[in-house]
Amino acid sequence: MAQIYGDEGRRVSRRSAVEYRKEIDIEECEEVYPPKEDTFLLLETLSVTPGERALEMGCGTGLISCHLARAGAALTAADVNPKAVQCTRANLERNDLPGTVVESDLFANVPGSFDLIVFNPPYLSVEEDGLLEKAWAGGREGVDVLVPFLTGGRERLSPGGRIVLLLSSEMGQGALDGALRSFSRRRLGSRRYFFEELWVEELRPL
Ligand SMILES: C[S@@+](CC[C@H](N)C(=O)[O-])C[C@H]1O[C@@H](n2cnc3c(N)ncnc32)[C@H](O)[C@@H]1O
Repeated sequence: MAQIYGDEGRRVSRRSAVEYRKEIDIEECEEVYPPKEDTFLLLETLSVTPGERALEMGCGTGLISCHLARAGAALTAADVNPKAVQCTRANLERNDLPGTVVESDLFANVPGSFDLIVFNPPYLSVEEDGLLEKAWAGGREGVDVLVPFLTGGRERLSPGGRIVLLLSSEMGQGALDGALRSFSRRRLGSRRYFFEELWVEELRPL
C-alpha cells in the first residue's frame, strides 16, 4: 500500500494510479460491450487505495473491474446484462482475481456502500432493442440511465466517497449539467475523436 505520514505522524493512505496491465487476460463475450476507447480512457484516470470498496456499475467484460481488483480494491461489479455478469465473473476467475459480481438494474441488487463508484454509462440517443443495446442506449438526451444512477450513487457513497464517470459531447449538455448540479465536478482526463469528445469527471456530493 502506498502510505505517507501526516504532520502528527498519523499514517495516511495515498491513492495509486490503476495502471493498464497487459498480462490481465480479458476474453470478450457475445452480446457484451467489448473494451473500447471509452473503457481505456476511464481506466487510465482511475486511482485507488488498496482495501477501498469499489463498485463498477455496468461492468461489461470486466476489464476495468479486473484492474480495480488487481490494484487491491475490494471489488463489486454489477450489470443489468446477465451475459456481462457471466463475462466479468469468467474474466476475474481467469486472472485469479477476487470480486463479487451481481446482475442488477443499477443499484437494485447491489449491497453496501462504496468509497469509489465507476461508471461508463450508456449515453447514445438510440432505441434500446436488446441486451447489447443496453450498453449504449441512453435516451433522447443521453442521460436516461445516468440520472437514476446518480440518485442511487449519491446514497451508496461512503463519507468522502467519489463517483468517477465517463461523459461525452454526444450527451445533451444542458441535461448533463442539470443531472450533475448537486455534485462538485473535477475533470480527470479527456480525448477528442473525429466527431466526439470523451472525458472523465470525478464527482462528490455537494
Ligand atoms: C458502455 S458499456 C461499458 C462496459 C464496460 N464498463 C466498459 O467500460 O467497457 C455500459 C454497460 O452498462 C450496462 N448497463 C446499462 N444499463 C444498465 C443498468 N440500468 N444497470 C446496470 N448496468 C447497465 C450495459 O449492459 C453495459 O455493459
